[in-house]
Amino acid sequence: MTNKIKVMSVFGTRPEAIKMAPLIKELEKRENIESIVCLTGQHREMLMQVLNTFNIEADFNLDIMRPGQTVTTITTDVLSGMENILKDVKPDIMLVHGDTSTSFAGALAAFYAGVRVGHVEAGLRTYDKLSPFPEEMNRQMTSRLADLHFAPTKANRENLKRENVSDNVYVTGNTVIDALSTTVSKNYRFADKVLDAVDFNNAKYILLTAHRRENLGQPLRQICQAVSILAKDNADVKFIYPMHLNPLVRNTAREILGGLDNVILTEPVDVCDMHNLMNRCYMVMTDSGGLQEEAPALGKPVLVLRTETERPEAVTAGTVKIAGVETDTIVGMANTLIRDTAAYSSQAEAVNPYGDGHASARICDAILYYFGLGDKPKDFGE
Ligand code: UD1
Ligand code: UDP
Repeated sequence: MTNKIKVMSVFGTRPEAIKMAPLIKELEKRENIESIVCLTGQHREMLMQVLNTFNIEADFNLDIMRPGQTVTTITTDVLSGMENILKDVKPDIMLVHGDTSTSFAGALAAFYAGVRVGHVEAGLRTYDKLSPFPEEMNRQMTSRLADLHFAPTKANRENLKRENVSDNVYVTGNTVIDALSTTVSKNYRFADKVLDAVDFNNAKYILLTAHRRENLGQPLRQICQAVSILAKDNADVKFIYPMHLNPLVRNTAREILGGLDNVILTEPVDVCDMHNLMNRCYMVMTDSGGLQEEAPALGKPVLVLRTETERPEAVTAGTVKIAGVETDTIVGMANTLIRDTAAYSSQAEAVNPYGDGHASARICDAILYYFGLGDKPKDFGE
């Protein structure tokens, strides 16, 4: 026991949990590793939903979520909450994921405690400080604090190199593709009653999600107005919108889209349901980061409801297009995909720039190599 590497994974939101789940399973399998899971609880219901699905038990939970929380309260609660846990556990390395305030504050807490930091999903950039907000800076600041960097793609590694981060960078693929390979199946039966009742052959079903902080208010209103126009103009199209639990999102969605026959506003769905919903839908409209990675792997065209993306690989591959947040542009681009078969087909190619399903194994190998307990893993795509 004593010579095992103590690896403490810290996360707190739904997407972090989905993307850390396969890695935690892999860490648990490695005989040289003791895996410890610490939740910040930045999300509550949406986090528990994922942990139940993947059967992950937490060793610690700071349980910080409060209604109307701000990036300041999240950051300070995580920072102060982690202090004693780190003092007691004394991990050899702490893993954080991505770009949330949990990731940044967790990495900062580890740095203050003298604990090394491994950053999963490192090196994604827009280089626009305000978009996505606060995620772009959370991710950049986490890079500064990290000792090991697990970059999903070569382009992500190049971003880090440009910032003079060249040591201990591994190109691993994204763990979301590991997750996807365990959740999607052809004869899948939905757990959610609303989804189970859907006949995906009777209409073009468009999956919609939107929740980003910088879209709250006017941009989200414009997005919903575009969906309302599209729904009224296209009787053969139905929208499914599993709404984020943030009341600011739900109020706008309900106000503008409630009452439309072909818009289904529903609760956040379990991740297995979500991945299979994506697999059966016609196309995806989203401001989410994770969906931009998952949908291309399933051959579904994506319109990104943002003005930029830190995930340009699928844009280059042609599956993802940036639609922005202006009503008219969104309506125009969505109508092209709905009505122009050739345009649809050219965007519906399955591409997998984000991983091959072995990212978690590469990350574990890299951790063991860093501590002198194994060989250096080959980069994803090499
Ligand atoms: C957070 C992340 C964002 C990520 C998103 C994934 C930050 C700053 N933002 O944004 O990067 O894309 O998670 O979904 O780290 N709520 C609940 N129950 C839940 C979850 C949320 O009620 O299980 C409500 C609460 O009222 C909470 C609000 O949603 O105050 C906002 O949650 P928060 O984590 O602050 O922001 P997100 O938009 O979820
Ligand atoms: N997701 C889910 N249920 C939902 C909506 C999303 O399981 O109702 C999954 C989705 O498949 C993806 C992740 O949650 O894996 C994305 O989370 P979110 O959009 O909240 O955050 P982001 O990726 O934008 O950070």
